[in-house]
Amino acid sequence: MIIVGGSASSKLAAKVAKLLGCPVVNSEVTKFPDGESYVRVNYNFKDEHAVVIQSTCYPQNDNYIELFLLLDAIKDLGAKRVTAVVPYFGYARQDKRFKPGEAISVRTMCKLIERAGADDVISIDIHEDETMANFAIPAYNLTAMSLIGRYVARLDLRDPVVLGGDQGALPRAKRAAAEFMADYDYLYKIRQTSTKVTMRPKRLDVSKRDVVIVDDIISTGGTVIEAIKVLKKQGARRIYVACTHPVLVGNSLKKIIAAGARKVMATDTIEHKISVISVAPVIAESIR
Ligand code: R5P
Repeated sequence: MIIVGGSASSKLAAKVAKLLGCPVVNSEVTKFPDGESYVRVNYNFKDEHAVVIQSTCYPQNDNYIELFLLLDAIKDLGAKRVTAVVPYFGYARQDKRFKPGEAISVRTMCKLIERAGADDVISIDIHEDETMANFAIPAYNLTAMSLIGRYVARLDLRDPVVLGGDQGALPRAKRAAAEFMADYDYLYKIRQTSTKVTMRPKRLDVSKRDVVIVDDIISTGGTVIEAIKVLKKQGARRIYVACTHPVLVGNSLKKIIAAGARKVMATDTIEHKISVISVAPVIAESIR
């Protein structure tokens, strides 16, 4: 097996290769003078199982093009099998036609990954599990929530509650909480008027308790900031925030801290200064 690190995930690829004790090669990526992408991967792939690791975070379009070019080139260079590992799957939230005429972007990305030559696909905490059903090839969605739970368990929390940002995040909260036998719940949205929505934990009282909010993605931080405000009003003690994918656009991290988060933690599906948890073990385990 040979691990190929795309430019968005070269550090993660090196960690996966180290865990598996197999070689790693990085893609060489530049731009032609007219802006087109140039990709080269210098390795003899003949009869190899190549595992391409490339998150499709910002700049999403460049990172996707690099992924497509890598998959196609590696297949063409004689690899017997190519696995696409896309730890952060860009466009995953555009998975429906919310308004008439919209592109269902993630479906298009799935088609292109498959058509470019992937024999199987792996992602981590993709926004909706069902997205993997767009692939005709085997496609697996792993989770980083146990790793997040194990990290959080070392924080010396007092009477902790793990909260999913919404009902869909409840299984994530449950998985993280199981690592340190904490209570878990989710934030339930209550529509007060046609324009006003508030939220509260569905079952549990957070008063005087430490709270860990878990989510798949933090992008603008809007969801988490709203949750922090509400939890503070309800008397939560210290509030921690953990996510798999630290998209964190603009100054969203500052705003989350300013809203009252004690610490914000994430994995390295996207390289960020808060990426303190590596997903390399779950990737390595799945391709071993
Ligand atoms: C929503 O369903 C997701 O799980 C995240 O909560 C959301 O995408 C985060 O986005 P933002 O940080 O922009 O609120």
